[in-house]
Amino acid sequence: MDKLLIEGGISLRGEIRIAGAKNSALPILAATLLTHDTVQICNLPHLFDITTMIELLGCMGVQPIIDEKLNVEVNSSTIKHFNAPYELVKTMRASILVLGPLLTRYGRAEVALPGGCAIGSRPVNLHIAALQTMGADIVVEDGYIKASTKGKLRGAHIFMDMVTVTGTENVMMAATLADGQTIIENAAREPEVVDLANCLVKMGADITGQGSDTIVINGVSELKGCSYSVMPDRIETGTYLIAAAATKGRIKVKDTRPDILESVLSKLEQVGAEIKVGENWIELDMHGKRPKSVSLRTAPYPAFPTDMQAQFTALNTIATGTGSITETVFENRFMHVHEMNRMGASIKVEGNTVIVEGVDRLKGAPVMATDLRASASLIIAGLVSDNVTTVDRIYHIDRGYECIEEKLQLLGARIRRIAS
Ligand code: UD1
Repeated sequence: MDKLLIEGGISLRGEIRIAGAKNSALPILAATLLTHDTVQICNLPHLFDITTMIELLGCMGVQPIIDEKLNVEVNSSTIKHFNAPYELVKTMRASILVLGPLLTRYGRAEVALPGGCAIGSRPVNLHIAALQTMGADIVVEDGYIKASTKGKLRGAHIFMDMVTVTGTENVMMAATLADGQTIIENAAREPEVVDLANCLVKMGADITGQGSDTIVINGVSELKGCSYSVMPDRIETGTYLIAAAATKGRIKVKDTRPDILESVLSKLEQVGAEIKVGENWIELDMHGKRPKSVSLRTAPYPAFPTDMQAQFTALNTIATGTGSITETVFENRFMHVHEMNRMGASIKVEGNTVIVEGVDRLKGAPVMATDLRASASLIIAGLVSDNVTTVDRIYHIDRGYECIEEKLQLLGARIRRIAS
């Protein structure tokens, strides 16, 4: 299993480009099942999760083609199977995103029930309940969600009990080809939901309200092919900016979108960073100063994203002062804390809050990645540590960060991948 070896103590400096957003690329790949025409997807990030989704389409008999510019073309007319097997769902929960498209387009779907994961139990009850309200027959047996519908799904008025990103996406995709109007209340407002909606509209769907908490979808008889470019990854963007702030550095990230990072940029200003933005770039400069601790609370967009919580925890470990970080979206998202304490951090867990007392320095240690964003936070901890840190189980990081060690090397970090 590969590891990352980091020699800390360098301030990050330089420029990098941001990749396409994993969390909009995944639903957009699933949306290709809604039409028999070819959908071309541009700006797909090169990530393990994307490969898994392409493999999942392959299992169904759909063979995406990758062109010389690394754009992916998907024509789902060759589909033969309508199921997502456990072997793939267990490696990527987002496989659940094929449920809505398969059901509405083909009237049947079998998707393995995603289990718990390192950040909590993560049920999919709201996806199932909403599709049932739209007329689907769904049973959960033998570890599979077995769904079918006689005729088309029916448009329905759906109230989501909790804000769920993939739940909103699944229902929105199902509603595009349903009979009549669907209204999703308490919908997720995440930019990735908007990106998916924009792609669906380009395919001929009738959707309004994306980006607000009420999305209205009027079902149409069919969708067509299109070419769509995935939006930039706001979590990747934020992760590099936090890494630069933690290391007292100065970086510019290009091909990104400052307008969808407001809550994160405002926290970075609180830590003492000077931030400049253009239409598609962000520059951060710490002027060589040590960051100040910040307190924050995660919540659905536009509030502070749970996917950036662990990275700010890493920054707080070496900041001046004490910061508290409260996680309200997932129940068990503090696995990184114990690893950081092993590196000399001073973090206490109190229920769903961690209190981080900044220390002067961390000490490098062998640590273990437990989930995608936790691994990014351990890399940041390694970058601000004395000595050498090795991060084990980095397959987690390859799920969601494109070429992370190359990008960090471009910014001057001493980091390399070692096979063991
Ligand atoms: C998506 C993102 C993930 C991000 C998360 C929250 C993708 C592929 N992944 O995950 O990176 O961390 O949003 O921003 O886009 N819940 C239920 N029942 C359900 C569905 C969700 O109780 O049927 C709960 C979850 O357990 C969690 C909360 O709702 O506590 C939010 O989860 P959700 O937004 O669904 O996360 P994902 O869509 O899986």
